[in-house]
Amino acid sequence: MAAYILHVNNKKLKVEAEADTPLLWVLRDELNLTGTKFGCGKALCGACTVHLNGNPVRSCAMPIAAVRNAKITTIEGVAKGNTLHAVQQAWIDEDVPQCGYCQSGQIMSAVALLSKNSKPTDADIDAAMSGNICRCGTYVRIRKAIHRAAK
Ligand code: FES
Repeated sequence: MAAYILHVNNKKLKVEAEADTPLLWVLRDELNLTGTKFGCGKALCGACTVHLNGNPVRSCAMPIAAVRNAKITTIEGVAKGNTLHAVQQAWIDEDVPQCGYCQSGQIMSAVALLSKNSKPTDADIDAAMSGNICRCGTYVRIRKAIHRAAK
């Protein structure tokens, strides 16, 4: 076990963990940030997506020792106070989720996309979101919500 200072959602937080503990489990079990979900645990589904220095990463495959100096943002950190991020609002307005399980990961990938490309095409969206799997098949609404958030 070692102590790590993490920068999560603009807060400095101290945690103790083994160096190879995936960030996902530190977020969920140590910091109680349970909006980030476990799907496959093999970096294949995108349910565990968070931002590392603004880029979407799979937290299930990211050892805690590799993120100590990074700025980490989770789904709990994308709203500004009581104001939802435009992507979160668009997700509500377009009624995107079905079961909802993958949606925080979907939103994190969409937020990262729009931070780098404010007017993505359908092809841009499909490329950026291709690593986020939704078993309910909400892809059409996801695309619409991203276009809506981009307006
Ligand atoms: Fe991390 Fe599936 S749980 S990609």
